Amino acid sequence: MTTNPQDALKKAAALAALDDVVDDSIIGVGTGSTVNHLIDALAGIKSRIRGAVSSSEASAKRLAAHGIPLFTLDDIDTLPVYIDGADEIDPGFNMIKGGGGALTREKIVAAISRRFVCICDASKQVATLGRFPLPVEVIPMARAHVARELTRLTGGEPKLREGFITDNGNLILDVHGLAITTPAALETTLNQIVGVVTNGLFAQRGADVLLLATADGVKRTERPL
Ligand code: 5RP
Repeated sequence: MTTNPQDALKKAAALAALDDVVDDSIIGVGTGSTVNHLIDALAGIKSRIRGAVSSSEASAKRLAAHGIPLFTLDDIDTLPVYIDGADEIDPGFNMIKGGGGALTREKIVAAISRRFVCICDASKQVATLGRFPLPVEVIPMARAHVARELTRLTGGEPKLREGFITDNGNLILDVHGLAITTPAALETTLNQIVGVVTNGLFAQRGADVLLLATADGVKRTERPL
């Protein structure tokens, strides 16, 4: 049930994404409270799709509960569309993702998808990425080393996400206090740190389409050239 205005906007963005669902295809499905609305809506049109590839155990469980067939990346080599939320999106459609800790699988599914549709409420749109702490998935034994390197390379403050283990058995360091003006370059730099699995910057593979829900309705925008 929709319980608050922000959740109503998330649901509106998710429902608008049904227009992007390609009939008879497998859909790439992200993770989070916005995507949960999408999964519930997909249940209503499941006869139109072959199934879904999920970016997390949580989304897979919800898809399965609706009787939507699940595929893995061993079954397919490309997807027509990947639909997911974001924690922040900038004017160039670069994103911070991973608030739910699913960033690595999200990045993998996005990488094989021909089109990334980002579904957001208006609070996620920012001029510059970084107010939302940047998640970095880390191999557990490398945690202290990676934290030192993140501080040195970004000037931000990494904090361990307490009590959280990713679907891949790793830790998350959330880097606070950033203002990211060159997201694609920073994405590469942070991925070079030994012990980093991936970071939550989605710049080299940003969104192609933004469905932004505001009080005036859902606005569809294609990625600027
Ligand atoms: C999960 C994500 C989500 O897309 C992001 O955190 C947005 O979540 P929500 O839809 O709950 O606001 O990247 O890892």
